[in-house]
Amino acid sequence: MQNKMSIQGSWASRWIFILAATGSAVGLGNIWKFPYITGENGGGAFVLVYLVCILFVGIPIMMTEVFIGRRARRNPIGALESLSEESNTSTAWKGIGLIGMLAGVFIFSFYSVVAGWVLQYIQTMATGGLNGATSEQAGAYFNGLLADPQTLLIWHSIFTAMVIVVVAAGVNKGLERATRIMMPALFVLLLVLLGYAMSTDGFAAGWNFMFEFDFSKLSWDAVLVALGHSFFTLSLGMGTIMAYGAYMPKKASVGGTVLAIGALDTIVALIAGLAIFPIIFSNGMDPAAGPGLMFISLPVAFGQMAFGQFFGLLFFILIGIAAWTSAISLMEPTVAFLVEKFGMKRLNATVLLGIVCWAMGITCVGSFNFMSDYTLFGKNAFDFLDFITANIMMPLGGILIALFAGWAVKEQFAKEEIGVSDIAFSAWKISIRFVAPIAVTIVFVYNLL
Ligand code: PHE
Repeated sequence: MQNKMSIQGSWASRWIFILAATGSAVGLGNIWKFPYITGENGGGAFVLVYLVCILFVGIPIMMTEVFIGRRARRNPIGALESLSEESNTSTAWKGIGLIGMLAGVFIFSFYSVVAGWVLQYIQTMATGGLNGATSEQAGAYFNGLLADPQTLLIWHSIFTAMVIVVVAAGVNKGLERATRIMMPALFVLLLVLLGYAMSTDGFAAGWNFMFEFDFSKLSWDAVLVALGHSFFTLSLGMGTIMAYGAYMPKKASVGGTVLAIGALDTIVALIAGLAIFPIIFSNGMDPAAGPGLMFISLPVAFGQMAFGQFFGLLFFILIGIAAWTSAISLMEPTVAFLVEKFGMKRLNATVLLGIVCWAMGITCVGSFNFMSDYTLFGKNAFDFLDFITANIMMPLGGILIALFAGWAVKEQFAKEEIGVSDIAFSAWKISIRFVAPIAVTIVFVYNLL
């Protein structure tokens, strides 16, 4: 039982697993969302709370997802089912996997649209379209893009196709190959951009903004944003990490491996902040500009700097790669499920899911233009899907996975798989039984109210 392999294949080594999971974790969440929510929530103190959430909630839940996937060697629904059976408990727990698959489609639909903006900006940067632009001009450019459904739809379709091509090729020839090429490129680009930011006048200001812990700036709201984001950024609560865990080599320790992934994800988010804020401060712009920080403020800043066009282009290529490897991981759980449960060919399963995601994405394309009047609870489709996934479905999935592993699964299974010292195992158990469910429930209830 312990040495079985997933029918989808297996990562070549522990390192490839670390890079693949990091590829899933590092995405728009790190480079687009983290800097702007840090900016909106006042900087350093927010960063500190975020780090605490990653360490005490995110990492223990990630360990749980990996061990469940690896023990069962199946897609998330199948894995939850087989672990319930092994533990002689209700197989209703597999319902968590169902919520996760739905969340995957929902996240993909808005993620792909934002990734489409990134592709548009790669083109803009390459042709120097925003060189020397003022904030008004850059703002008008971004708003013009949002108002143009045709362009948005083209990029959304291209991005979806890019993801389908990789996922359809399979775990080894698709996901693993993409990981081997894209992750080193991502790290190199990130370091180049950090070096560039360090050479600007605003570096000290950017550093202080991120690491000066001024607790008077911290609100209760910010704590909740930080906890919710720790789920999103680590790809937790919706089956992705469980699916990737199913392909993890048996020998590697889950504990140490997950710590490495959590550390890499965090380092990338921090470096992204350290690359962006100095550029913002050097040009006297507002760090609290919100979601437009990356698409309006940053191009203005690049447009006024020496070699700005070149580094701006590198920056958007970096985000494009990060978004690509994350979107691939959004599809994997459901594709694995369709293949394993219904015996579908991987290609057919991927195309089918891709079409569903693409069609859902049209509602997000339309959110900024022809469908902006259609709202649900006062939100357009884009905001609504972002809201229910990050604030409801992922935390809910997270609590349920924690409760399942902490209370329903035989403790001996967790111990065998996680493979850490007794003290570390006890820490994991306390987190998974109490800390994570209680913390997440607070966020969950708060967001509902
Ligand atoms: N973690 C990704 C990011 O930070 C988003 C994501 C969520 C990817 C869930 C896969 C699954 O952008």
